[in-house]
Amino acid sequence: MKRAKVTVVGGGFVGSTAAHWIASKELADVVLIDINGDMAAGKALDLAQSGPVEGFDADVQGSSDYSLSANSDVVIITAGLPRKPGMSRDDLLLTNAKIVRECAQNAAKHSPNAVLIIVSNPLDAMCHVALEASGFPKERVIGMAGVLDGARFRTFIARELDVSVEDVDAFVYGGHGDTMVPMPRYVTVGGIPLPQLLPKDKIDALVSRTAKGGAEIVGLLKTGSAYYAPSSSAVQMAEAIIKDKKRILPCACYLSGEFGVKDLYVGVLAKIGSKGIEQIMPIEMNDEEKALFLKSASAVQELVDVLKKN
Ligand code: 2OP
Repeated sequence: MKRAKVTVVGGGFVGSTAAHWIASKELADVVLIDINGDMAAGKALDLAQSGPVEGFDADVQGSSDYSLSANSDVVIITAGLPRKPGMSRDDLLLTNAKIVRECAQNAAKHSPNAVLIIVSNPLDAMCHVALEASGFPKERVIGMAGVLDGARFRTFIARELDVSVEDVDAFVYGGHGDTMVPMPRYVTVGGIPLPQLLPKDKIDALVSRTAKGGAEIVGLLKTGSAYYAPSSSAVQMAEAIIKDKKRILPCACYLSGEFGVKDLYVGVLAKIGSKGIEQIMPIEMNDEEKALFLKSASAVQELVDVLKKN
């Protein structure tokens, strides 16, 4: 069987940890691309040398040269600056737009049939940049955020109830920013709806902590942002694509009128398979959820409008 190939652009913490998950799970051969080609090559060689110890067979290469990434099935773009304490993801807009534009152009040139997974922030706006720069159809440019935000929500719920994280199902809608919309009405714990297990004030506190989940880690790390959960979330999406699993995952998707949002990337539940986004899942939102979702979409729209003017 032909091995899948995944390129990770950006050899920082998120990128190199993504490469680690992919290789250690034997999902694909990995190419790590960074403007600092020696650093990428060094991390790739180091990771490859853990293969004999950990018992995985995956080729791992690193370089600044995109030709090494040719014909990847999936390209995960993590390049860009992370935020520092006190910064919002939006503060990174113009700097990261330049970086993501260049990465997406290069990636698309060498892997014209790949699915792009965008991780750089501000996430939803960076998906617009990558869509335009790659020239790919909207189905093949997906943003990673909902899996991460959902994982944070699941972790907090599991800790509150002292149950396994595996038994908590939860997702988050909207943009990957302060206005994100965790959907507690849809959370289940071993199949039991969350509102049957926790009072509203406790749920509200978990929702609020989830929305600020990235900033909580930035505040603790002080020199950068989260990387274990962001990278594993991107890799879960890559796995769904490589194995054509048709998983239902919350992702930033280009909406064309769904839920009243048009021509904008916003987080929703989607079916993810070998073609990328294969379906935007229809879900029923009550008036409160819809209002929060539209507010979050307009926060993304504001950033996209700033991009258009620059
Ligand atoms: C986060 O939420 C880096 O945006 C990422 O931690």
